[in-house]
Formats: sequence, structure tokens, C-alpha cells
Amino acid sequence: MPTPLPFSSFLIFFFGSSLIFTPPSSSSSSFDTFLFGGCTLQKYTPNSPYPSNLNLLLSRLVTTSATIPYNNVTVLGSSPQDTIYGLYQCRGDLPPNDCYQCVTRAVTRLGTMCTDAYGAALQLDGCFVKYDNKRFFGVEDKTVVVKKCGPSIGSDLDALTGLDPALAQLVTGGGTYRASGAGDVRSVAQCVGDLSVGGCQDCISEAIRRLKSACGPSAWGDLFLAKCYARFTRGATHAEGNGYGYGYDANGNDDSKDNNNKTNKTIAIIIGLIAGIALLILFITWLNKRYEKGHGCR
Ligand SMILES: *[C@@H]1O[C@H](CO)[C@@H](O)[C@H](O)[C@H]1NC(C)=O
Repeated sequence: MPTPLPFSSFLIFFFGSSLIFTPPSSSSSSFDTFLFGGCTLQKYTPNSPYPSNLNLLLSRLVTTSATIPYNNVTVLGSSPQDTIYGLYQCRGDLPPNDCYQCVTRAVTRLGTMCTDAYGAALQLDGCFVKYDNKRFFGVEDKTVVVKKCGPSIGSDLDALTGLDPALAQLVTGGGTYRASGAGDVRSVAQCVGDLSVGGCQDCISEAIRRLKSACGPSAWGDLFLAKCYARFTRGATHAEGNGYGYGYDANGNDDSKDNNNKTNKTIAIIIGLIAGIALLILFITWLNKRYEKGHGCR
């Protein structure tokens, strides 16, 4: 029987290749660049009170992120296993609306990344979100989570000199969010807001010590411990060059206008693609009918 095989296989080929051309929508703004994430191996029973307590916790976190850059929430269950602790921390320079957008995306992403897990943590460029059924508020944790260095800048001594003062200023800066710069080096460090002043200082000092020894002669470096991070970047590439843009320029303005333009372009491309596919399906259906008629099968 002469079934119209060629057309169906063409359709599959087209859909397969359209995936390659679709731009990744998550790259539309600098604050939601994925940095790291993880889930506990232990899973909760889907019909226990845990998932509904978790939903309550996550929606409270999202709600308060529209007004404050850090918050912790506890949802008490009827038993200790059903109690959940959660927090978020937005980057210190994010405007409230970006903080809210970032936490919203992080929570959405955790939902698919860590389905049914008791605990999870996710760091995007602009915010950190973590929840667990063990209390972790205020607990210091200097586990190295991410250590990433950019390409080596060689032995150019002029370029090397800015790093030490830029990192030293972070150590003495004070506060949970510290942004600094010296020469062509920009540096930033931040603690999660549940740490004490001493705990934060201790964490940032450790992150900077490790960052300097790991990434000293590199174009940029990222060092994330479980409760704080330190990062630096050299030269004019800070906005987008290494893909971990801090999202601020020399005046501390965020670059959300650029991001809006990029989002609009991405949406335009996707709409164009969908329209193209729809037209193609119509055309193939039409061709199929002609083909069947022409062969007079059935
Ligand atoms: C948790 O949040 C409450 C306010 O909602 C605050 O008083 C408390 O200090 C916070 N605890 C930690 C460890 O951040």
C-alpha cells in the first residue's frame, strides 16, 4: 500500500531541526543565568502533607521577594518530617521587581529540577533559593560548591595588579553585599542573609582566599561556598563577556532595558517559528491530499 511515508518523515525531520533553531528563552536576562543547583536524594511521599506545605512555603517566599531582598519562612507540619524551612537571598543590587522575577523563576525551575525532593537549592545569577525539612538557618557552611576560572591572562603585570586591592576591599567592606573595584577589576561578594555578622565575615574571607589562589591570573573567577560567594572579572567584558555578568554598570544601574530588547527579539523569533511550522503543516496536508488523490489509493 503506497502510504505517504515521505511526507511524515519530512515532518519529523522539520520538528527535530526546529528544536536546534529555537533560541533558549532562559538566556533573556542576566539575573536568571543558572549557576548551580542540587536536590536531596530523599524524596517525600507524593500524597503526604509535605507537598502542600512546600507549596505554601514557596508561595510565601515569592510573595515577600517583591519587597525585601532576603527572607526566611518556616511552615510547621503536624510532624517534624512535614515541617519545612526555606529562604531566598537576592543579589544586593537587584531592584525589587528583578528580585521578585528571579525568585519566581528559581522556584519554577526547582519544581521541575527537584520533583518530590525533600530539600533543594538553586543559585541563579541574581538570587539564591533553598528549602529543606532540616533547619539550616544561621548555620555556617563553607563547602565549596562552584569554583570556575576564566581563561588565563598570562603574565601581563599591569593587568595582574588590580586583583589584590579589589579583593582586599571586599574583605573589609562589611555588610552582606559588597561590590568593589580597582584598576580594571570588578569584584563582588555576598552572604546569605541568615548568617551572623561574624559568620558572614568568616565565609567571605574564606571564599576570597580560595578565589585568589584558584583564579588569580584569570580573566574572571567565581567561587561559591554554600552560604556566600566571591567573584571578580577584569576588563570591559564585565557586562556579558563571561556569561556571568553581574548585571550592573559603573553607576550601579541594572541593564534591564537591554534584557527587555533581548526578550522581545526571542519572542519574535519564536512566534515567527510557530507561524512557519503552521504554514508548513497546512502545505504538507495539502500535498498529502493531492498525493493520495493522484495515486487513487483506498
Ligand atoms: C527569620 O526571619 C525573621 C523575620 O521573619 C527574623 O526575625 C529572623 O531573624 C530570621 N532568622 C534568620 C536566621 O535569618
